[in-house]
Amino acid sequence: MNGFVIAVDGPAASGKGTIAVRLGALWGYPVLDTGLLYRAVGVGLQRAGGDLDSEAAAAAVARSLDLSHLEDPALRTRAAGEAASRVAVHDDVRRALLDFQRAFAAREPGAVLDGRDIGTVIAPAAPAKLYVTATPEVRADRRWKQLTGQGEAVTYDDILADIRRRDERDGGRESAPMRPADDAVLLDTTEMTIEAATDAARRIVEAARARWERSQG
Ligand code: DC
Repeated sequence: MNGFVIAVDGPAASGKGTIAVRLGALWGYPVLDTGLLYRAVGVGLQRAGGDLDSEAAAAAVARSLDLSHLEDPALRTRAAGEAASRVAVHDDVRRALLDFQRAFAAREPGAVLDGRDIGTVIAPAAPAKLYVTATPEVRADRRWKQLTGQGEAVTYDDILADIRRRDERDGGRESAPMRPADDAVLLDTTEMTIEAATDAARRIVEAARARWERSQG
């Protein structure tokens, strides 16, 4: 029997990261924030003085990363998010990160992964798939509060422009574009507190879990 995989996809600052962590805590499953992998590639490449647009250089960084050490606070900055989105367009980068993500998804008795392509590419057979969204304005407000809380000097308008540019790049790329899987349940958190959003997510996953248990006989 395969483990119970919970795929949580969606755009930046939709709430998917917090929802993934809370679902992981509820079910006692490990959680992988796959955005951190792309952030580590972008930051690593920039530190080495490389070009974010070079697929070969970015893929070399991706292949040599120690993926089990992703707690560097530099990965949480605005610049890291932008660099991540830029290296994430490269097919060879995505390929280099695939096995690690698939192995994580195969953990027993289950795992939670959040990202952009979990339900479509990394774990297409996941029994529970959520696609978490919110309007760009609400997401920008959340991200702006988070970044200013971390001490970054940024304006709301800059963050809204970042979010729009990232949505376009992440959704418009050829390689594993951000999009809901056909069987994902959409969760729009625009009008929700994070508590309400987590509660809605829990109910969606509970329903998926009941279906999955029946299918396992
Ligand atoms: O979730 P995040 O904001 O930390 O992700 C940073 C960038 O990484 C995002 O803009 C696109 C890329 N990404 C991706 O292409 N696929 C994933 N599964 C996760 C992130």
